[in-house]
Amino acid sequence: MSTATGIENISTILVIGAGTMGRQIAMTAALAGYSTTIQDISEEGLAAARTELETWAASRVAKGKLGQDAATAALDALAYSTDLDSAASNADFVIEAATERLDIKTQIFEKLGVLAPAHAILATNSSTLGSSKVAEATGRPGQVCNMHFFNPALVMKCVEVVRHETTSDATVDTTMELARRLGKEPVLINREIPGFIANRLMGAIQREALFLADSGIASVQDIDTTARTALGHPMGPFALMDMVGLDVIDFIAQATYAETGAAEDAPNERVAALVAEGKLGRKSGAGFYDYK
Ligand code: 3HC
Repeated sequence: MSTATGIENISTILVIGAGTMGRQIAMTAALAGYSTTIQDISEEGLAAARTELETWAASRVAKGKLGQDAATAALDALAYSTDLDSAASNADFVIEAATERLDIKTQIFEKLGVLAPAHAILATNSSTLGSSKVAEATGRPGQVCNMHFFNPALVMKCVEVVRHETTSDATVDTTMELARRLGKEPVLINREIPGFIANRLMGAIQREALFLADSGIASVQDIDTTARTALGHPMGPFALMDMVGLDVIDFIAQATYAETGAAEDAPNERVAALVAEGKLGRKSGAGFYDYK
């Protein structure tokens, strides 16, 4: 029987991982009034997160999109810690956004099962690992699910809530409601499937875009332009891959292919070659496009 907490009992959120996703998820929670800790094993990672979030808040205030008081309150609601034990001990809701490695995530969830209060829900932001893979390690599998945000998490409205076989209804309800209170539009995925909804849709578009470019039928630029001007996408598939990170795109393809074995899910050679050259997209200064 799950003892997952109801939404009214959630006041403290722990986000594990200060990377691209974790820091913006944490700021989203802080802006919604939750006392939020970002935990990471790297001091540098935490410092970089703090700098980015302070800069982001200042620019929102300067643009008139966020009041100074709200910005100060959100920044004050954020705590930064390298100590998982103490950060987990008073968390009502945990969102894990650490490295996409099963061994690392399993260790984290095992610890959370011991350290987090009994009522706490333990969610993973993973796009590639269904929470069933870590649920048993917690000793409270009914309180475990995926809560998958999109990049940039401060902007994108979608949150995919994915239940595994024994995720309780209370866990799903609270997670969906929390997403709403964070200003998001959650969608529910009733059964684990590689890529959930969004990455499956995105993968289909990317596959076709890569086919067109690899076959010399059209340039990367013209394919992106078409996605924007004919389909109304905010950015073309290559620009989007560069934004998400080509290492992430390659990793998602590898993980999906390992699970499905389907030819259409096979990693793309051109993406893999760019990753091997260190061209990871925007974050490294080059990918399909040059950002220097
Ligand atoms: N962080 C925070 N805010 C950002 C941002 C960032 N990295 N990039 C843009 N923004 C904000 C801007 O501040 C601006 O806010 P405002 O309108 O309130 O002033 C707003 O977003 C729009 O930004 P811009 O005007 O600079 O540019 P665009 O209109 O092109 O919007 C975009 C940028 C929101 C990124 C838009 O291009 C977009 O929606 N792109 C598609 C993103 C997408 O598909 N994301 C999903 C990726 S897949 C994923 O995450 C899954 C994972 O598992 C891989």
